[in-house]
Amino acid sequence: MPAPAATAARRPRPRLTLRPARAADLPALLALERRAFRGDRLSARQFRHHLGNPAAWFAVAGPPGAPQGMALVFFRRRSTVARLYSIVVAPAARGRGLGLRLLRAAEAAARQRGCRELRLEVRADNAVALKLYAGAGYRRLARLPRYYDDGGDGWRHARRLGPPARNRRPPRP
Ligand SMILES: CC(C)(COP(=O)(O)OP(=O)(O)OC[C@H]1O[C@@H](n2cnc3c(N)ncnc32)[C@H](O)[C@@H]1OP(=O)(O)O)[C@@H](O)C(=O)NCCC(=O)NCCS
Repeated sequence: MPAPAATAARRPRPRLTLRPARAADLPALLALERRAFRGDRLSARQFRHHLGNPAAWFAVAGPPGAPQGMALVFFRRRSTVARLYSIVVAPAARGRGLGLRLLRAAEAAARQRGCRELRLEVRADNAVALKLYAGAGYRRLARLPRYYDDGGDGWRHARRLGPPARNRRPPRP
Protein backbone atom coordinates (compact mmCIF):
# COMPACT_ATOMS: atom_id res chain seq x y z
CA MET A 1 0.00 0.00 0.00
CA PRO A 2 1.44 3.40 -0.87
CA ALA A 3 2.42 5.62 2.02
CA PRO A 4 -0.22 8.24 2.74
CA ALA A 5 0.66 11.67 1.43
CA ALA A 6 1.88 13.97 4.18
CA THR A 7 -0.84 16.39 5.12
CA ALA A 8 -0.16 19.88 6.38
CA ALA A 9 -1.42 18.80 9.80
CA ARG A 10 0.98 15.82 10.00
CA ARG A 11 4.06 17.50 8.62
CA PRO A 12 6.32 18.59 11.48
CA ARG A 13 6.58 22.35 11.70
CA PRO A 14 10.10 23.68 11.21
CA ARG A 15 11.70 25.06 14.36
CA LEU A 16 11.71 28.83 14.17
CA THR A 17 15.12 30.49 14.18
CA LEU A 18 15.90 32.94 16.98
CA ARG A 19 17.70 36.00 15.66
CA PRO A 20 18.20 39.71 16.35
CA ALA A 21 15.18 41.91 15.65
CA ARG A 22 15.55 44.24 12.67
CA ALA A 23 13.66 47.20 11.24
CA ALA A 24 11.68 45.05 8.78
CA ASP A 25 10.14 43.21 11.76
CA LEU A 26 8.69 46.34 13.40
CA PRO A 27 5.21 46.40 11.80
CA ALA A 28 4.65 42.75 12.72
CA LEU A 29 6.02 43.28 16.24
CA LEU A 30 3.71 46.23 16.81
CA ALA A 31 0.76 44.10 15.66
CA LEU A 32 1.87 41.27 17.99
CA GLU A 33 1.98 43.61 20.98
CA ARG A 34 -1.37 45.19 20.07
CA ARG A 35 -3.03 41.78 20.06
CA ALA A 36 -1.32 40.62 23.24
CA PHE A 37 -1.57 43.62 25.57
CA ARG A 38 -4.38 46.07 26.31
CA GLY A 39 -2.02 48.79 27.56
CA ASP A 40 1.60 49.35 28.57
CA ARG A 41 2.72 48.66 25.00
CA LEU A 42 5.91 49.73 23.26
CA SER A 43 5.56 52.45 20.63
CA ALA A 44 7.09 52.18 17.16
CA ARG A 45 9.66 54.73 18.27
CA GLN A 46 10.65 52.70 21.32
CA PHE A 47 10.91 49.52 19.25
CA ARG A 48 13.15 51.29 16.75
CA HIS A 49 15.32 52.70 19.51
CA HIS A 50 15.88 49.25 21.04
CA LEU A 51 17.07 47.78 17.71
CA GLY A 52 20.31 49.63 18.19
CA ASN A 53 20.31 49.95 21.96
CA PRO A 54 23.54 48.50 23.42
CA ALA A 55 21.78 48.15 26.78
CA ALA A 56 19.16 45.83 25.29
CA TRP A 57 18.90 42.29 23.92
CA PHE A 58 16.09 42.21 21.40
CA ALA A 59 15.38 38.87 19.76
CA VAL A 60 12.65 37.53 17.52
CA ALA A 61 11.71 34.09 16.22
CA GLY A 62 10.72 33.57 12.61
CA PRO A 63 11.41 34.87 9.11
CA PRO A 64 12.30 38.51 8.37
CA GLY A 65 9.21 40.67 8.42
CA ALA A 66 7.03 37.91 9.90
CA PRO A 67 8.29 37.18 13.41
CA GLN A 68 6.19 34.76 15.46
CA GLY A 69 7.59 35.80 18.80
CA MET A 70 9.86 38.30 20.50
CA ALA A 71 11.68 38.98 23.73
CA LEU A 72 13.29 42.17 24.95
CA VAL A 73 15.76 42.34 27.86
CA PHE A 74 17.30 45.47 29.38
CA PHE A 75 20.66 45.75 31.11
CA ARG A 76 21.89 48.47 33.42
CA ARG A 77 25.46 49.51 33.88
CA ARG A 78 27.08 48.14 37.02
CA SER A 79 24.01 46.02 37.75
CA THR A 80 23.98 42.23 37.71
CA VAL A 81 20.20 42.22 37.48
CA ALA A 82 18.70 42.13 33.96
CA ARG A 83 15.06 42.84 33.26
CA LEU A 84 12.84 40.97 30.83
CA TYR A 85 10.71 43.83 29.60
CA SER A 86 8.56 41.99 27.08
CA ILE A 87 7.92 38.49 25.79
CA VAL A 88 5.20 37.68 23.28
CA VAL A 89 4.35 34.74 21.03
CA ALA A 90 1.86 35.06 18.14
CA PRO A 91 -1.46 33.37 18.96
CA ALA A 92 -1.04 30.83 16.12
CA ALA A 93 2.40 29.80 17.42
CA ARG A 94 1.54 29.41 21.11
CA GLY A 95 1.64 26.22 23.11
CA ARG A 96 4.57 24.70 21.22
CA GLY A 97 7.46 25.73 23.42
CA LEU A 98 8.43 29.00 21.74
CA GLY A 99 7.70 31.14 24.82
CA LEU A 100 9.97 28.95 26.96
CA ARG A 101 12.71 28.99 24.27
CA LEU A 102 12.61 32.78 24.15
CA LEU A 103 12.75 32.93 27.95
CA ARG A 104 15.74 30.58 28.12
CA ALA A 105 17.51 32.53 25.35
CA ALA A 106 16.92 35.76 27.29
CA GLU A 107 18.44 34.15 30.39
CA ALA A 108 21.46 32.96 28.39
CA ALA A 109 21.95 36.46 26.97
CA ALA A 110 21.79 37.96 30.47
CA ARG A 111 24.30 35.38 31.74
CA GLN A 112 26.68 36.23 28.90
CA ARG A 113 26.51 39.87 29.99
CA GLY A 114 27.58 38.90 33.48
CA CYS A 115 24.12 39.15 35.06
CA ARG A 116 23.27 36.91 38.01
CA GLU A 117 19.51 37.41 38.00
CA LEU A 118 16.68 37.99 35.52
CA ARG A 119 13.65 39.89 36.77
CA LEU A 120 10.28 40.55 35.19
CA GLU A 121 6.83 41.86 35.99
CA VAL A 122 3.64 40.06 35.06
CA ARG A 123 -0.04 40.86 35.47
CA ALA A 124 -1.58 39.09 38.44
CA ASP A 125 -4.43 37.94 36.16
CA ASN A 126 -2.18 36.53 33.40
CA ALA A 127 -2.57 32.87 34.32
CA VAL A 128 -0.70 31.54 31.28
CA ALA A 129 2.39 33.69 31.84
CA LEU A 130 2.36 32.96 35.60
CA LYS A 131 2.42 29.25 34.77
CA LEU A 132 5.24 29.75 32.28
CA TYR A 133 7.41 31.54 34.86
CA ALA A 134 6.60 29.16 37.71
CA GLY A 135 7.49 26.20 35.51
CA ALA A 136 10.70 27.88 34.41
CA GLY A 137 11.94 28.31 37.99
CA TYR A 138 10.98 31.93 38.75
CA ARG A 139 10.09 32.94 42.28
CA ARG A 140 7.71 35.68 43.34
CA LEU A 141 9.51 38.68 44.82
CA ALA A 142 6.67 41.11 45.46
CA ARG A 143 3.08 41.92 44.61
CA LEU A 144 2.81 45.28 42.80
CA PRO A 145 -0.55 46.94 43.52
CA ARG A 146 -1.96 49.00 40.58
CA TYR A 147 1.23 48.48 38.63
CA TYR A 148 -0.40 48.60 35.17
CA ASP A 149 -1.97 51.51 33.23
CA ASP A 150 -5.48 50.20 33.84
CA GLY A 151 -4.92 49.77 37.60
CA GLY A 152 -4.27 46.03 37.40
CA ASP A 153 -1.91 44.45 39.94
CA GLY A 154 1.36 42.81 38.99
CA TRP A 155 3.87 40.38 40.40
CA ARG A 156 7.61 40.85 40.25
CA HIS A 157 9.42 37.58 39.58
CA ALA A 158 13.10 36.70 39.54
CA ARG A 159 15.33 33.79 38.68
CA ARG A 160 18.94 33.38 39.69
CA LEU A 161 21.21 32.67 36.75
CA GLY A 162 24.18 30.38 36.94
CA PRO A 163 27.55 31.31 35.43
CA PRO A 164 27.72 31.49 31.61
CA ALA A 165 27.99 28.11 29.92
CA ARG A 166 31.62 27.40 29.03
CA ASN A 167 32.84 26.44 25.58
CA ARG A 168 29.69 27.71 23.98
CA ARG A 169 29.21 30.44 21.47
CA PRO A 170 27.34 33.43 22.90
CA PRO A 171 23.60 33.32 22.19
CA ARG A 172 22.32 35.19 19.18
CA PRO A 173 21.78 38.07 18.85
C1 LIG B 1 2.96 33.76 27.73
C2 LIG B 1 3.37 33.30 26.32
C3 LIG B 1 4.61 34.08 25.89
C4 LIG B 1 3.69 31.81 26.36
O1 LIG B 1 4.17 31.43 25.07
P1 LIG B 1 3.99 29.95 24.50
O2 LIG B 1 4.87 29.79 23.32
O3 LIG B 1 2.55 29.65 24.32
O4 LIG B 1 4.53 29.08 25.74
P2 LIG B 1 5.12 27.61 25.69
O5 LIG B 1 4.46 26.81 24.63
O6 LIG B 1 6.62 27.72 25.64
O7 LIG B 1 4.69 27.04 27.09
C5 LIG B 1 5.53 27.17 28.23
C6 LIG B 1 4.67 27.01 29.47
O8 LIG B 1 3.73 28.08 29.58
C7 LIG B 1 2.51 27.58 30.18
N1 LIG B 1 1.42 27.65 29.19
C8 LIG B 1 1.53 27.86 27.85
N2 LIG B 1 0.30 27.91 27.30
C9 LIG B 1 -0.59 27.71 28.32
C10 LIG B 1 -2.00 27.66 28.40
N3 LIG B 1 -2.78 27.83 27.32
N4 LIG B 1 -2.58 27.46 29.62
C11 LIG B 1 -1.83 27.31 30.73
N5 LIG B 1 -0.46 27.34 30.71
C12 LIG B 1 0.14 27.54 29.52
C13 LIG B 1 2.78 26.14 30.55
O9 LIG B 1 3.35 26.13 31.85
C14 LIG B 1 3.84 25.76 29.52
O10 LIG B 1 4.64 24.69 29.93
P3 LIG B 1 4.15 23.19 29.58
O11 LIG B 1 4.01 23.16 28.09
O12 LIG B 1 5.27 22.34 30.08
O13 LIG B 1 2.85 23.00 30.27
C15 LIG B 1 2.22 33.52 25.31
O14 LIG B 1 1.05 32.92 25.83
C16 LIG B 1 1.92 34.99 25.01
O15 LIG B 1 2.52 35.58 24.14
N6 LIG B 1 0.95 35.57 25.75
C17 LIG B 1 0.55 36.97 25.53
C18 LIG B 1 1.65 37.93 25.97
C19 LIG B 1 2.02 37.73 27.42
O16 LIG B 1 1.17 37.53 28.27
N7 LIG B 1 3.33 37.81 27.69
C20 LIG B 1 3.85 37.69 29.03
C21 LIG B 1 3.82 39.02 29.68
S1 LIG B 1 4.56 38.99 31.30
